[in-house]
Amino acid sequence: MININVSLSQFLITDDLALKDKNVVIIDVLRASSTILTALTNGAKEIIPAENASVAARISKGLGNSVLCGERNGKVIEGFKHGNSPFEYTPENVKGKSLIFSTTNGTVSITKAKFAKSAILACYLNLNAVIRYLSELNEDFVIVCSGKLNDFCIEDSVFAGLIISRLFDLNGKDKYNIFDTGYACYKLAKLLLYKTANPEQNRIYNIFKKSEHGKYLCSLGFEEDLKYCSVIDMFSGLPQIKNGIIKLKETFELEASAKSKMKRVNISNKPGTSKV
Ligand code: MLT
Repeated sequence: MININVSLSQFLITDDLALKDKNVVIIDVLRASSTILTALTNGAKEIIPAENASVAARISKGLGNSVLCGERNGKVIEGFKHGNSPFEYTPENVKGKSLIFSTTNGTVSITKAKFAKSAILACYLNLNAVIRYLSELNEDFVIVCSGKLNDFCIEDSVFAGLIISRLFDLNGKDKYNIFDTGYACYKLAKLLLYKTANPEQNRIYNIFKKSEHGKYLCSLGFEEDLKYCSVIDMFSGLPQIKNGIIKLKETFELEASAKSKMKRVNISNKPGTSKV
């Protein structure tokens, strides 16, 4: 039996050790998890999450080819190059760069997972990749909804419910144990997203438009961001957090295999063992 815990806001993770040794899924569908996935898919070298703007600025001083990115209350932070709109993270803007990222809620959740056993970022844009990963993981996990300003937000909670619903469909309900919050998210997703067997794109966008944060983003002129973030499976990548750095899972895997190949070459080139 796999236990799925859900935290309705990062604010509820009050202790740095609460996520220690847990498998964590971090959600901030509007917009941090969607934007970070976009930036990595478009070739950013890595994302370095910072819990606040001054930490971000400090990190960037010691790091070449880095760019300060993020928002406060939806707007670009003063002195930072990019905000938190996925449309800013084009290949031209990000290729090969280290992005130091600080957002109001999303990167706070991410930094709270620093002692996690494993941590990934999830959003509608990579739903299938998330479901595949969690099915293969086959262990207990915690979903952390970033929420809005230390509170619940509907768009993250519905998405948490959709993850649960997809896992039930794929692996059977009996495989999972959910608690009251997970059950509430699951029911909410069923109620708001499903009319037929599949969740509908339009319904996601409508939830965004009716949500507090969605309305706020529209008031700042970011309506297109809502449309973008509502697309299911635009990408197949899975952002993973390891040692405080976010990269796509496949990038971490390629790096690990390159390292192990190098080790093998070194061993075979040991003095005295070479045939040359
Ligand atoms: C956050 O981290 O609070 C959000 O991603 C805010 C935003 O939409 O920029």
